[in-house]
Amino acid sequence: MLFPEYRPRRLRRKEFIRDLVRETHITLNDLIYPLFVCEGKQIKQEIKSMPEIYRFSIDKVLEEIKYVVELGIKAILLFGIPDKKDEVGSSAYSEKGIIQKAVREIKDKFPELVVITDVCLCEYTSHGHCGVIKNGEVDNDLTLEQLAKIAVSHAKAGADIVAPSDMMDGRVRRIREALDEAGFSNIAIMSYSVKYCSAFYGPFREAADSAPKFGDRRSYQMDPANSREALREAYLDIEEGADIIMVKPAMPYLDIIKVLREEFNYPIAAYQVSGEYSMIKAASRLGWLDEEKILWESLISIKRAGADLIITYFAKKIAEKLNKG
Ligand code: PBG
Repeated sequence: MLFPEYRPRRLRRKEFIRDLVRETHITLNDLIYPLFVCEGKQIKQEIKSMPEIYRFSIDKVLEEIKYVVELGIKAILLFGIPDKKDEVGSSAYSEKGIIQKAVREIKDKFPELVVITDVCLCEYTSHGHCGVIKNGEVDNDLTLEQLAKIAVSHAKAGADIVAPSDMMDGRVRRIREALDEAGFSNIAIMSYSVKYCSAFYGPFREAADSAPKFGDRRSYQMDPANSREALREAYLDIEEGADIIMVKPAMPYLDIIKVLREEFNYPIAAYQVSGEYSMIKAASRLGWLDEEKILWESLISIKRAGADLIITYFAKKIAEKLNKG
C-alpha cells in the first residue's frame, strides 16, 4: 500500500502512539558505568577533559557506588590508577594493587553489583604501552603471561567479569586457561574484541595517565579503516572463550556493531568512550547542542545498531532520567 492509502504519520501523531510502536529502548539493565580508582583517601578529582567524571580514592568510590546502586545501575567497569609504575606493570597483579583492594571492598559492601575489571598494562607500565617491551616492540607472548596474572588476581579479589583491553593475540585463550586452572571457571570474560586505534581515547589517557611515552598503539589496536578484520577478531575471541564481545569506540563504529550482531549470537557490548563523552559535554557547555537529547539519541543509535550493553560515562545521567520516567 502506498500514499495516499498508507500514511506513516498516523503512527507518529501522538506521544502515546509513538510509545506503542517504538522499536528500541534503553533500560537500566543495559548500562555499565566506568569508574577510575586511585590510591589515597578523600580524593575526588575531576578530570579536566571529562567534566563531571572523577578519579576516586576507594573511600570516595564507595560513596559514588552507593548512589549508583540506588539508581538501579547493575554493573560497573573499574580502571586502576596506581602510584607506582614499572617496565612490566607489576602493580597490575599485586595483591595490594589498587584494583584488587577496590574490588574487595566494593564486593564486600555491594555483593549484588556486577564488578567488571579492565585487564591491561597501559595504566601500570612506565612506558604506557599495553604490553611488555622487548627490543623496542610490544612483545605479544610475554604480555600474555602478565595478562593471565592480572586476570587471576582480579578474580581472586572478587571480580565477576574480567575485560581484557590490550589487543594482544591469544589473550582470551590464555586468560580463560589461567582462570580455569586457578578455580575460576565461573568468572566471565568480556573481551574488547574489536578495539580500534582511536583518537577518541584522548581524554581517558589524561584520566588514567596512560598515554604511550613513545610511538603509538597502531601495532596492536585495529586500523579504523577495517571492518572485515573486525569479524576475524570477534571470531577468534569467541573461539578462545569470550562470553561477551565488545566494540570500541561506539558511535563512529555503528556499522561494526551491526555486522557483529548479524554474524554472532553472543552478547555484544559497545563502549561509548571518553572522547565521545567529552565531545557531547563540550558542545553542550558551549550551548551548541542539547546534552540530554544528544546523549539519549547517541545511546539509542548504539542499541539500534545491535549492542546489548553500553559502557558509558553518561550511565548515571541516563539512570536518573529513567527513574524520573
Ligand atoms: C586501556 C584502555 C583504554 C580505554 C579503555 N581501556 C585506553 C587505550 O587503549 O588507550 C579507553 C576508554 C575511553 O576512552 O573511555 N587499554
